[in-house]
Amino acid sequence: MPDHELAFDINKIDQDFLDDPYPVYRKLREQAPVYRNPDGTFILTRFADVVKAFKHPGMSSDKTVDFKPKFGDGPLYTHHTTSLVFNDPPVHTRIRKLLASAFSPRKLTELEPLVEQVINNLLDRLERQGEFDIIEDYALALPTEVISYMLGVPEEHRHLLHNYSNLILGALDPVVPPEKLQAGHDAVEEFGAMLEELIQVRWKMPGQAGQGEVLAALIFGEIDGEKLTPVELVQNCIFLLNAGHETTANLVGNGISILLDYPDQLKRLQNDPGLIKTAVEEFLRFESPLQIGNRKATADVEFGPEDATVTIPKDAFIHTCIGAANRDPEEFDNPESVDVGRAHNPQIAFGIGKHICMGNTLGRIEGRIAIGKFVDRFPKLRKNGEKKFHGRARFRGLDKLPVAVT
Ligand code: HEM
Repeated sequence: MPDHELAFDINKIDQDFLDDPYPVYRKLREQAPVYRNPDGTFILTRFADVVKAFKHPGMSSDKTVDFKPKFGDGPLYTHHTTSLVFNDPPVHTRIRKLLASAFSPRKLTELEPLVEQVINNLLDRLERQGEFDIIEDYALALPTEVISYMLGVPEEHRHLLHNYSNLILGALDPVVPPEKLQAGHDAVEEFGAMLEELIQVRWKMPGQAGQGEVLAALIFGEIDGEKLTPVELVQNCIFLLNAGHETTANLVGNGISILLDYPDQLKRLQNDPGLIKTAVEEFLRFESPLQIGNRKATADVEFGPEDATVTIPKDAFIHTCIGAANRDPEEFDNPESVDVGRAHNPQIAFGIGKHICMGNTLGRIEGRIAIGKFVDRFPKLRKNGEKKFHGRARFRGLDKLPVAVT
């Protein structure tokens, strides 16, 4: 029998949890930091435990067995089991090294002015509108444009990417109706075919790449005589869209939403724009875009505080709750309050360990420019209706955030 009376079930979450999961996280962290979910999986909510799970050699990200019953041999199976995030060493290590050229300091230097340009254009349009939705009209538009530059997706195809990403990631939800599953398979095939064409063109004309494009580096990149296979190349390009799309949009949307909820912090940032760096770290901590990660134990591993450890057995599935870890009072002073100038902030919104987000510098650049310039351009920013969180527990983000700026 457990020594607590919590009756939380991660497979049966309600709207209250989606609106505000933090009271539940707090109870779990205080009463059952290594919580056994009714389906036998475990939920970790302490900072120290989540970090341990991400760093421990006895933890696997490989999904070749787990995804088989759900995806069969279809395109979703190929995609998710080929993307580096769902692989262990040595496959993960090799793909990660080969993908690193997409995030080199040179590529990031090329991308930064493009981010500025995209943001300036969006802000000009929003200024003319006066009233708009932050999510639809601002936060979602930026990462799609940036990834399009990286993959060389021409302008006429860019409107398709948001939907592809939703369909492919949506297929990872715990329960997926057959038509949604089929739409996910189709999205992998269609986006894959588009990328194959772009790769063919770049392969024939490597010198013609646009600013910020990374395809040539990924096609021709070689480490220790090894290259990405054609399937690895296409599937990891698809993964770059998925990894950097909703997460970055959530950072921008959540950041502006936090500033609207805490007007004193908005004023601080307006008076001292140099705080944008620590402000973005605080938004990442306070409303982490990716709330719940996952690992599978490949050995018995102990978690929990020293005086109450629990052994998670080999083969158990673990939910690593980043959103709870980032509000753990053992790691952060006043974790439930927002401080855009927070000095000590070792937040783990980008994960930690060998799978730490490859796009973390790019995500930070996008967040700082998008939120910093927005606050600077619109000093009269105010709410203009009810915000609404979307219905997925693993990601923390809004569907709607209506504002007025004149
Ligand atoms: C604020 C924005 C972002 C957040 C919060 C975020 C968060 C994360 C997290 C938590 C992981 C680790 C997953 C795990 O350990 O299982 C991850 C992995 C990854 N992210 Fe991000 N991400 C963001 C933006 C981006 C962007 C912009 C890109 C690229 C365009 C990107 C590319 C990746 C890649 C390639 C991985 C896999 C790394 C690996 O498995 O070794 N991310 N991200």
